Amino acid sequence: MPQADPMPQDRTAAAAPAPRYVIDEMISAKAIAARVETLAREITGHFRDTEKLVVVGLLRGSFVFIADLVRELPLPVEVDFLEASSYGDAMTSSREVRILKDLRGEIAGRDVLVVEDIVDTGFTLQHVMALLRSRGPRRLEICALLDKPSRREVDIRATWTGFEIPDEFVVGYGIDYAQRDRNLPHIGKVRFLD
Ligand code: IMP
Ligand code: MG
Repeated sequence: MPQADPMPQDRTAAAAPAPRYVIDEMISAKAIAARVETLAREITGHFRDTEKLVVVGLLRGSFVFIADLVRELPLPVEVDFLEASSYGDAMTSSREVRILKDLRGEIAGRDVLVVEDIVDTGFTLQHVMALLRSRGPRRLEICALLDKPSRREVDIRATWTGFEIPDEFVVGYGIDYAQRDRNLPHIGKVRFLD
């Protein structure tokens, strides 16, 4: 009999074990879809006369939300993305915001809607809005899927908010925990087991 290979193929066991958790559903896919429809109707009313609306998704957490939202907007729409770092893979805000990927298009004189997944401390949006405002858009509004008002540290509010939620760490519908769970169709809160 050949000897067992002394070098195991899978070395991941040597890495620190990922914390065990379960996800408790907080907002169903159906409730999200209904809310997206309502938000889209209000946004459409606000920008009814626009020549073109530049919808700016903040990567990566807003990718599912922006995909659903733009398909409910019967307006001439351009989609662009911006990536700002705040959280990394941790669960607390770094308060320091860096632009990792800038817009491809110009927004001077244009109507702009920023689409964000969650407003937490508010540092990310404050930084992004100051940057975009400095480029002289005609109108600049924010649509955030989730808001945790009890966590706010800077004075910023989205023009439209999907749901206000308590101070819980959530995942799903594009939102991650350490890059996992973005593909969940609903939004759930993370509950650690040990
Ligand atoms: P802020 O700068 O503290 O407002 O952070 C906002 C960003 O933090 C969001 O765009 C999310 O990417 C991330 N974030 C805040 N809360 C959560 C959460 O509960 N789950 C996952 N990411 C979150
Ligand atoms: Mg984000």
